[in-house]
Amino acid sequence: MNRIYLDYTATTPMDRRVYDSMATFHTEVFGNASSIHSFGREAKAALEESREKIATLIGSRPSELFFTSGGTESDNAALFGIASVAPGHGRRHIVISSIEHHAVLHAAEHLKNSGFSVTLVGVDESGFLAPSRLERAVTENTLLVSVIHANNEIGTLQDLKALADVAHEKGALFHTDAVQSFGKVPLDVAGLGADLSSFTAHKLYGPKGIGALYIRRGIDFEPVFHGGAQERNRRPGTESVPLAVGFATAAEIAVEELDRESKRLAELNAVMRKRIAAEIPSALFNSPIEGAIPNILSLSIDSSQMQIDGDALIVNLDLEGIAVTSGSACSSGSLQPSHVIKSLGRDDMTTAATIRFSLGRFTTEAEIHRAVDVLANVVGRIGKRKRTISAV
Ligand SMILES: Cc1ncc(COP(=O)(O)O)c(C=O)c1O
Repeated sequence: MNRIYLDYTATTPMDRRVYDSMATFHTEVFGNASSIHSFGREAKAALEESREKIATLIGSRPSELFFTSGGTESDNAALFGIASVAPGHGRRHIVISSIEHHAVLHAAEHLKNSGFSVTLVGVDESGFLAPSRLERAVTENTLLVSVIHANNEIGTLQDLKALADVAHEKGALFHTDAVQSFGKVPLDVAGLGADLSSFTAHKLYGPKGIGALYIRRGIDFEPVFHGGAQERNRRPGTESVPLAVGFATAAEIAVEELDRESKRLAELNAVMRKRIAAEIPSALFNSPIEGAIPNILSLSIDSSQMQIDGDALIVNLDLEGIAVTSGSACSSGSLQPSHVIKSLGRDDMTTAATIRFSLGRFTTEAEIHRAVDVLANVVGRIGKRKRTISAV
């Protein structure tokens, strides 16, 4: 059976060109970037070159970017690193959107144990956060506002500049999780008004286990880990030069191919959406048509029209070789209905019957058609249509 991977939001296969660019740095150029001898210096040069490349692509200075183990660490470092300096500022309030990734949501919840209050701001039925809504939540006591750039479950892109302005007007800092937007839409962290921003390599055909956190120059930040002085004292531990090189190569390719690839993905996405709308009348789309990254199409089966078990849906698609997820990859396996889909105003049963298709560099139109054929068939087979009682 030919398997079809439509879960690029969970992770991407590494691009061959990325893989090849890393090889030398595992074997020949293997020095510790902190060593002062020639082996160390050549490793350090490759590390700094990678940092420079990524910094240029996101519109930051190299000195504002430090490497982490991935998006989760970057998000945690952003929240805890800023919260640790809070006593100096006297601010003890954090504001996040209701559709943050768990790496931000759970980190913020944890900060409640250290005396912070946390406000979750809701979004509209397409996942957009209105600046006026944020304005009502941010106070003179707010230390940090964190809003995800492109949501990982539905793809909705926020108007970051307007949201960052709201935070800054009250003297708060602004963090954005740009894990899903990097490489899919042009990024300019400084222009968007972000004080901190999180990235990861494995969502853009790079290696797993490396990410980065941008911290604008002049921002007070306390490292989360303690040890050596690597990464300008912001993240101790021996840097992985091969992973950094792979991250930079992946980012360069993604940005270079961005225009062509996002157009191609948007077209595939539209084909899929049109066919699903025509063939599965109970499908409610969670991803907006405009204002979203082009590779995500999330839909739920409307519980008022049809009863269907979300997990059974995913398992049946998998049996037919179609790999998709029921929500965020990071929350699958947990029985909690997705907080993101619920935030759109969906009831629990509809939320539980959610599928996220995410397309990528290797997705073909034939795969899209096959996936819709299978979906329509599985929904027809395992869904229980609700009887409609018409008024007499
Ligand atoms: C929006 C978002 N933030 C953070 C993460 C976590 O990134 P990582 O897997 O690199 O830890 C993910 C991964 O699913 C994500 O989609």
